[in-house]
Amino acid sequence: MSDGGTSRASEFERGGARKTAAGLSYLTGFGNEHASEAVPGALPEGRNSPQRAPLGLYAEQLSGTAFTEPRAHNRRSWLYRIRPSAAHPAFSRAGNGAIRTAPFTESVPDPNRLRWNPLPEPPAGTDFLAGLWTLGGNGDATQRTGMAVHLYHANASMDRVFSDADGELLIVPERGGLLLHTEFGLLPVEPSHVALIPRGVRFRVLLLDESARGYVCENYGAPFQLPDLGPIGANGLAHARDFRAPVAAYEDVTGPVEVVNKFCGNLWTATYDHSPLDVVAWHGNHVPYIYDLRRFNVIGTISYDHPDPSIFTVLTSPSDTPGLAGVDFVVFAPRWLVGEDTFRPPYFHRNVMSEYMGLIEGAYDAKAEGFVPGGGSLHNMMSAHGPDQETFDRASAAELKPQKIDDGLAFMFETRWPVTLTGHAAGADHLQQRYDDVWQGLQPHFRA
Ligand SMILES: [Fe+2]
Repeated sequence: MSDGGTSRASEFERGGARKTAAGLSYLTGFGNEHASEAVPGALPEGRNSPQRAPLGLYAEQLSGTAFTEPRAHNRRSWLYRIRPSAAHPAFSRAGNGAIRTAPFTESVPDPNRLRWNPLPEPPAGTDFLAGLWTLGGNGDATQRTGMAVHLYHANASMDRVFSDADGELLIVPERGGLLLHTEFGLLPVEPSHVALIPRGVRFRVLLLDESARGYVCENYGAPFQLPDLGPIGANGLAHARDFRAPVAAYEDVTGPVEVVNKFCGNLWTATYDHSPLDVVAWHGNHVPYIYDLRRFNVIGTISYDHPDPSIFTVLTSPSDTPGLAGVDFVVFAPRWLVGEDTFRPPYFHRNVMSEYMGLIEGAYDAKAEGFVPGGGSLHNMMSAHGPDQETFDRASAAELKPQKIDDGLAFMFETRWPVTLTGHAAGADHLQQRYDDVWQGLQPHFRA
């Protein structure tokens, strides 16, 4: 990639992408001031914008937060590229496919518990962008608040390039690996790993397998950050050192490249006369990254009860209200349950926050059946939910010896506002019609 060759999606087909992925190296750490150059000497020293950037490159800043945001939250990177991003023709409107953006107005917010089976097979030739299907969301992308839940199902690599001005994209593969070719370099992401593409970063998604399926949280709000640890201390949950950013890798391609830009809810397209993935060197902290969910350091009780599921937060997008997230990304990773005199599955509850849950593999310990990998459930604000009858009965009678939960990997996008569905999610054939039955067998056991 860094030799200035003519690599494109086609070069990666038939196993090439997997071979490329296996040979990659990374920069480690979360929120670091990373620096990388694909060609020695490409990165200027001592200044960001010299009179003449090294090797004839153009210097360009990409801001992910306002210039003036506090240093702890400020995200920006400097890119040194063959052509400036400004060198592009006009964009024109393209069809939005199944992508929708907040504010969501195609349906009314639904208080019912809802659950979907996986997305159906897409037509042959469906790339990641064409395979994106919006379930719903909240807030307003133009106000940079709220989030959207998308699913994807693709069977072709992208030849085109995509960027999202509306928010950052947290990609959660469930089936099939992806190779993300970004302006900053290459990142592979497999099921049980996640990837984040920051707002505005151009990228192309190549498939590492025959097809790919998964989930995407589009976060319109403040960039995801690691949660504070409070009395947990200096270590625990997701460790900063386990996040990996790419090293610089560029393509120097002349010729038509379609670039799709999502802007305030609509897709816009332009045909460039070159690839915009032409960044030879970069430095900064507004960068894509990947994370292995199995590295998550799970914290739980060693006495009784269990903490609220916020203890499983991997990443959080803070709002202006302390402690109130625009959206949290939460993982239910393999862990030991040892609580004494404790109902060990997730307890029954009603939550002011709204919860979209997905399943990456195996089973979830609160639902014995019906919640399948690639599917998802939505428990909106104050909707009552919890274990199904079978799980309740089993857990209420279980011998409370130490128990390893290691047969599943579930996650949650938990958001401050109700999730309003898109029209196609509300009317989908794969929306389960009898999800409420999960809780219908729960009989009263009260004895006065
Ligand atoms: Fe819940």
